Amino acid sequence: MTRKLIAGNWKMNGSLADNEALLRAVLAGLPATPTADVAVCVPAPYLAQVQALCQGTALAWGAQDVSAHERGAYTGEVSAAMLRDFGCRYVIVGHSERRQYHGETDEAVAAKAQRALAAGITPIVCVGETEAQRNAGQTEAVVKRQLAAVIHTVGHCVSEIVVAYEPVWAIGTGRTATPEQAQAVHAVLRAQLRAATPSERRVRILYGGSMNAANAAALLAQPDIDGGLIGGASLKAEDFLRIVAAAA
Ligand code: 13P
Repeated sequence: MTRKLIAGNWKMNGSLADNEALLRAVLAGLPATPTADVAVCVPAPYLAQVQALCQGTALAWGAQDVSAHERGAYTGEVSAAMLRDFGCRYVIVGHSERRQYHGETDEAVAAKAQRALAAGITPIVCVGETEAQRNAGQTEAVVKRQLAAVIHTVGHCVSEIVVAYEPVWAIGTGRTATPEQAQAVHAVLRAQLRAATPSERRVRILYGGSMNAANAAALLAQPDIDGGLIGGASLKAEDFLRIVAAAA
């Protein structure tokens, strides 16, 4: 079994002062050698701050998006090489909020994952169905289509990615998927990865969507749930640390 990964997604929250307080509290509460990998994915302007505070600690960091382009005339974009400069180990790609509000297609998400891998950064590839899609019985087809685009683009490097299953209806709503609902989708994704690479056991499949200190242990106990991508609860040190402890 691979080590579990607990990654916070701060989304568009924080300030220099708030980040420092949060990170100091998380660092103070983390065991010197945590039994899980732990990371925070922060807004790009704060990467230098997070790097300065977390360098040499057990807390890794990452970004929430990356450009699909390598460099050049792409105003407002941040390249994978830039993220690398600030020590990012991870970058989230294809979060449903980016697919929804920024029109990111499966192909764009796959290109971003490819750029991250080429820069030595692990992409956390998000997939997940909307409530309407679930009600229409399309969950499996949707997540398989989203992951297939990435597998098609990155080829054998798929063993280097992290996948995050985030049902859109569970994000920020307090409506968590039940452990059984999540496990069922994770098993589908696991089978898809197995067909794509002999090293599929290396690929961690995280669950995300209203994961919190109270429900983390039951979700993380499922055989194909290898960690969590945590939104709201990652902004409170105590809650985040309790989720990390549940991943032991
Ligand atoms: P919440 O934990 O706030 O539901 O957010 C989940 C998420 O979108 C993580 O990427």
